[in-house]
Amino acid sequence: YKRVTVKSLTEMKANAEKISMLTAYDFTMAKIIDSAGIDVILVGDSASNVMAGHETTLPITLDQMIYHAGSVVRGVDRALVVVDLPFGSYQSDPKEALRSAIRIMKESGAHTVKLEGGSEVKDSIKRILNAGIPVMGHLGLTPQSIYKFGTYTVRAKEEAEANKLKEDALMLEKLGCFALVLEKVPAALAQQVADSLTIPVIGIGAGSGVDGQVLVSHDMFGMTHEFNPRFLRRYMNLYEDMGKAVDQYNKDVKSKDFPNDDEQY
Ligand code: KIV
Ligand code: NA
Repeated sequence: YKRVTVKSLTEMKANAEKISMLTAYDFTMAKIIDSAGIDVILVGDSASNVMAGHETTLPITLDQMIYHAGSVVRGVDRALVVVDLPFGSYQSDPKEALRSAIRIMKESGAHTVKLEGGSEVKDSIKRILNAGIPVMGHLGLTPQSIYKFGTYTVRAKEEAEANKLKEDALMLEKLGCFALVLEKVPAALAQQVADSLTIPVIGIGAGSGVDGQVLVSHDMFGMTHEFNPRFLRRYMNLYEDMGKAVDQYNKDVKSKDFPNDDEQY
């Protein structure tokens, strides 16, 4: 196998080869996903929800992201590893943004960082890119701004917001971002953005006209069961299957079926 780089992603777009991306937050899951040939593994700040049980992505800290990222990097041989800069680690000033990105790169061994927003975070993106750290953008529904939006519904349905999104996407490409995520925007708009850029656009709830797809792995495996957006395709129902396994184990322990004679020393 060949290691996936930021350059391979641009080439994949040029060759009209779709890019596959999933989240991972730990070594074991990263190993499974990487071995199966996924191109990009995102250590998302969705770890705040999925791993820590918070209602939003805001509480997760830079130290916690670095812990997750290091665990993932140790499980990956092939995929490009992208790590989210968490809320509060890059918004206040570009120097702090660079310091945060450097900590992720040095302490976890990850390859790239991702951050949310367009023109608002332009100087931070520039500064991080100047240090040689590849940056992935993230536009549309940006969960770190959930209290500004007030809801997790589709973004950029109105012309003003759609125009700002298109300008921001173009700006991210011009700055030198290697790719960007578009989350929960109309498919037609997402396709228009993807067609207008040479860098790959990875969609989540952004339709089929983009250059790749990303899902939260726990959602895709059906480990979560209360989160049911239209864009989510579940490939397993692990919430049920794991529940059944736990139920059986519980019964076997109580009934003294486990361990049997062969399962002891
Ligand atoms: O944190 C995350 O999982 C993400 C993806 C949904 C794009 O940012
Ligand atoms: Na994220």
